[in-house]
Amino acid sequence: MKILVTGGAGFIGSNFIRYILKKYPDDSVVNFDKLTYAGNLENLKDIENDKRYQFIQGDVCDYDGLCRAAEGVDAIIHFAAESHVDRSIHSSHEFLQTNVFGTQNVIDVVRELLPPPSPLLGKGGGVRFVHVSTDEVYGDIESPKKSKNGDAFKPSSPYSASKAASEVMVLAAIRTHGVPAMITRCTNNYGPFQFPEKLVPLFISNAIEGQPLPLYDGGAQIRDWLYVEDHCRAVDLVLRQGKVGEAYDIAAENEPEVINRQITEIILTTLGKNKDLVEEVAGLRPGHDQRYAVDSSKIRKELGWKPQVSLEEGLKQTIKWYQDNQDWWRRVKSGEYRQYYQSHYGN
Ligand code: NAD
Ligand code: TYD
Repeated sequence: MKILVTGGAGFIGSNFIRYILKKYPDDSVVNFDKLTYAGNLENLKDIENDKRYQFIQGDVCDYDGLCRAAEGVDAIIHFAAESHVDRSIHSSHEFLQTNVFGTQNVIDVVRELLPPPSPLLGKGGGVRFVHVSTDEVYGDIESPKKSKNGDAFKPSSPYSASKAASEVMVLAAIRTHGVPAMITRCTNNYGPFQFPEKLVPLFISNAIEGQPLPLYDGGAQIRDWLYVEDHCRAVDLVLRQGKVGEAYDIAAENEPEVINRQITEIILTTLGKNKDLVEEVAGLRPGHDQRYAVDSSKIRKELGWKPQVSLEEGLKQTIKWYQDNQDWWRRVKSGEYRQYYQSHYGN
């Protein structure tokens, strides 16, 4: 199978590409990525010379470029997005541009790949399209309820609103144009190569550096953390066995649920750091969602998926990865990110 991955130089996309090339010796991957601040070719250094891998720098908002990249592919997995809630609160424009308009372009390219043959791309084929969405489209939900497939979207941040908007464009394309799309909505991921603006890598790297850990709003919020490889396995299952037109919610369903303060304490304890590094902050995330929880029974029952890495084991591996790969995140943190960090958190 030849797969076009958008956003493959980011956190989940790069883990996904590595997963596919390792698992399927006959598959090849085209990675189409704009290389925004979050895209990093170092994430794929170990496979850059693999003959089955090709990188194309491009913007999903560039229809012609995307069409060229999609030539001859059997599947498109659409990860490319602006992905950070805090940044979306500072400025939403890029989120609309990439997440909504960009997704519409991807949909249009998928349509070009469908029969009848198009003059632009030649022979059409049975392309499969996976749109990677997020559980955040449901918004937060009171305990003990869980959001589930079919529930109304109630996004809270400009990020989740843009993802919800992109998702409904995909749903419309399925119905109107028969686009062979499947949608995935996963809970919070963590693991190697995650940009250190998100909670887990930010707190691990700050703790290693002896810098404060800015814990928002009392740290009582619940996220259902899933190890990135478990997410990659789920997306791959949906790609190969998912039913066209369906959406699959993907969740660790961690029991008991874990609050941000506990994640913070695990990180500090594992690294042997003092709890004094925690700095309580408020007001940095207006509209802060308290709890995400989704019901993932559909993908478990229909596709036989379940997580293979426990939170305890996944966090241990992730902390070790950040300890062993300090050059990677120190380089990332010394670039444009430093400016963002100061403007968001202050000094
Ligand atoms: P990321 O920010 O680490 O990576 C995003 C990638 O997309 C980067 O490589 C970036 O360069 C690329 N990109 C951004 N704009 C682009 C554009 N206009 N054209 C081409 N490439 C562009 O994000 P991530 O955490 O890997 O998330 C990947 C996808 O998974 C996103 O769609 C996100 O909404 C979704 N998701 C993420 C999580 C999570 O916990 N991180 C959970 C569920 C779903
Ligand atoms: P984040 O990793 O940004 O993911 P998302 O907002 O998509 O869930 O945030 C996860 C949780 O961690 C969320 O409740 C906000 C909190 N958080 C902090 O307490 N401090 C921080 O500096 C960041 C970035 C997040």
